Amino acid sequence: MSQQLIIFDTTLRDGEQSPGASMTKDEKLRIARQLERLRVDVIEAGFAASSNGDFECVRAIASHIKESTVCSLARANDRDIARAAEALQPAARARIHTFIATSELHMQKKLRMSRDEVFEQARLAVRFARNLCPDVEFSPEDGYRSDPDFLCRVLEAAIHEGATTLNIPDTVGYAIPELYGQFIRTLRERIPNSDKAVWSVHCHNDLGMAVANSLAGVMIGGARQVECTINGLGERAGNCSLEEVVMAVKTRRDYFGLDVRVDTSQIVPASRMVAQTTGFVVQPNKAVVGANAFAHASGIHQDGVLKARDTYEIMRAEDVGWSANKIVLGKLSGRNAFKQRLQELGIESDSEADINAAFARFKDLADRKSDIFDEDIIALMGDESVTHEQEHFRLLSLSQHSETGERPRARVAFASGEQELHAESDGNGPVDASLKAIESMVGSGAELLLYSVNAITSGSTESQGEVTVRLQLGGRVVNGVGADPDIIVASAKAYLAALNKLRSKGEKVAAQG
Ligand code: KIV
Ligand code: ZN
Repeated sequence: MSQQLIIFDTTLRDGEQSPGASMTKDEKLRIARQLERLRVDVIEAGFAASSNGDFECVRAIASHIKESTVCSLARANDRDIARAAEALQPAARARIHTFIATSELHMQKKLRMSRDEVFEQARLAVRFARNLCPDVEFSPEDGYRSDPDFLCRVLEAAIHEGATTLNIPDTVGYAIPELYGQFIRTLRERIPNSDKAVWSVHCHNDLGMAVANSLAGVMIGGARQVECTINGLGERAGNCSLEEVVMAVKTRRDYFGLDVRVDTSQIVPASRMVAQTTGFVVQPNKAVVGANAFAHASGIHQDGVLKARDTYEIMRAEDVGWSANKIVLGKLSGRNAFKQRLQELGIESDSEADINAAFARFKDLADRKSDIFDEDIIALMGDESVTHEQEHFRLLSLSQHSETGERPRARVAFASGEQELHAESDGNGPVDASLKAIESMVGSGAELLLYSVNAITSGSTESQGEVTVRLQLGGRVVNGVGADPDIIVASAKAYLAALNKLRSKGEKVAAQG
């Protein structure tokens, strides 16, 4: 059996299904490039048939990514599969991932199809996909809650029709590690042609066991592919976390005996990029990528680590990409130095206009903040106001007044397309007043679901504040992120960024549909 564990990243597909985590094409491409630097084996770039926007994202990623296999999800029908193949056409290595639900509950209540109909549709879908692409993955959705006899029948047929990977989703996060591992082992033992495909695990985290279940699927079940997302991003409680699986397998190689191709030094940059892009911040005590993951506060621990690091550390912070906050650029740095630092950080942009806009913002920031760290630069590039394509609203200026015992007031000027708008409002606090002022002119009617502020670089009040605003309107949920040393300004930028996203089109078909 192969000693290589395939890492299949689905941040851009299953991760993006978290309400509010939807990303633009530029954002997805930037993350895909980071995933390639991370050396994941497979990047699930999206669900091409779900919308024209998703099709374009898959196509753009397929055109740019050369090292990792690029995959598109497709329901088990000819239209979806043909659309996936078309979007993947420029890819150096392509995979079509087709799926259909196989649990009684999903077949009866959701699909309203009989077992025989589902069996036939799965079989024909894999056959059709295999005619278009040599690399085909098949997933029985809600596989873990499916009848094993029926599942064996479907999976055997899928292999027979040419599926090269069989993925067993625990779609609702119901599994228990030992049982999930045994479930996969039983399937592999009972299906006569099971050795003709790679077996894969896909676990959701509803009971907090996605990583444990995935690893049990590998060790007990013999799976050799793990599907996961950066920071465990995903619907509800999220998906299996890539960084935790990879570091478990690397750190405990004595137990797992498996190799992964991943360049672990790219884990923290990937984590930051995904958090900043989606606005889904990482909890401080999150394994591997949380701000406290390598912090030792207690005196006994600090003393131990200073004497011998491995007294309290099982991994080295630098091996997963943590670096001490470094002052990298300053006020006098030129455009070339800025561009070179972007390249070193792996942030590439095809557009000189985007770099120029980011450089102008860098200069503006350097005037107000003496030390510029890598995190500040990443935030500058992630700032939607530098990507012109979807920038309709743009902050021009903001002033606010707050004083103990008085109701705060804010005055905001912002561009709305070619127009310059001025608005004024009071509010419970200066942030509230600023957002109310903007809303009084825009009149979006959007509901504010989330407002959060984080320091971009820890340990100093000189840090930029990074604000995430999540808005809901007509069933759509979007995140806007804004960064600035002044958190009121960051808040206004984040609100305008969210409004820009609400303006962009692109309704999608739900992947679980
Ligand atoms: O969780 C799930 O079942 C999925 C499938 C579409 C693979 O994401
Ligand atoms: Zn899933």
